[in-house]
Amino acid sequence: MAASVGPTVLLGARLPSSVMATLELAFNVVVADGPVSAEVIRRQAPNAQALMSMVTDTIDTSVLDAGGSLRIVANVGVGYNNVDVSAARARGISVTNTPDVLTDTTADFAWALTLALTRRISEGERLLRRGAWKGWAMDFLLGHDLRGRQMGIVGFGRIGQAVATRAESFGMVVVHAAGPSHPVGGDGAMPLDRLLATSDVVSLHVPLTADTRHLIDRRALARMKRTAYLVNTSRGPVVDEEALAWALRSRLLAGAALDVYEHEPAVYPDLMELENVLLAPHLGSGTVETRTAMAELAARNVAAVLSGQPPVTPVP
Ligand code: 8YV
Repeated sequence: MAASVGPTVLLGARLPSSVMATLELAFNVVVADGPVSAEVIRRQAPNAQALMSMVTDTIDTSVLDAGGSLRIVANVGVGYNNVDVSAARARGISVTNTPDVLTDTTADFAWALTLALTRRISEGERLLRRGAWKGWAMDFLLGHDLRGRQMGIVGFGRIGQAVATRAESFGMVVVHAAGPSHPVGGDGAMPLDRLLATSDVVSLHVPLTADTRHLIDRRALARMKRTAYLVNTSRGPVVDEEALAWALRSRLLAGAALDVYEHEPAVYPDLMELENVLLAPHLGSGTVETRTAMAELAARNVAAVLSGQPPVTPVP
């Protein structure tokens, strides 16, 4: 790709071609040849003024120091736990994320996992593909209805609220909690412990922070109903995977669906062995439309900051 004369923008990954084309009109665009690191910056783009990072890039002080010309880190994702925001700010670097554009897509995915889990779709497909299906039977692979059951949403921000809308339209009663240190109010709000003890499905939508790391640990799992399901589309470390495997093996809950993991792309080995867990490979925002909208918004943030304007969606 011909380099333009504008400022250098380092991308953590290739973006959709329409966004690449727009960026290349104004900037010298460099695509990192692996996860962004201090070494990658020094080797590929030592003068980069903007970095468009992915969830798989850890933007820590070593990266920020290597990128001495950086003016913005535009994270392509709503979650930004991979960026050391205070270190960036201390160096005068703006940090932006991509809220709103992925809300419905991620909520759709959380809902798809909820339905697949409670109706045992992936369990059934695995069984069928290994040739173990003996035909229809009255009591074969029965799931559970959602109508009239309680959906407990942990983290009632944009995505949590969008999941609530879907749950209500399926006849569920929705309750919500914000996590340990920021209780939310309003209709259906309750402390996390009560939500865990009374919900039939618990869906996680908190950001990953020091407060929410292992929010769902052995103690939390032991509080859940034995018939309940856990769905995680937030961040892997919100759930202690070893504790979850223990709880599922011990039948302390009925099942779990995960889209995110503590050490992606690794999955805690015991979880791979269990039938009552559905494992998806971090697909929450994974549609053509939404990934394009995320990249476009991140690119708008870069264009704004590099032209001296305030960022469009700075992280709070
Ligand atoms: C993205 C995500 O795919 O937006 C987020 O926080 O977890 C995902 O939807 C990912 O961040 C891409 O970098």
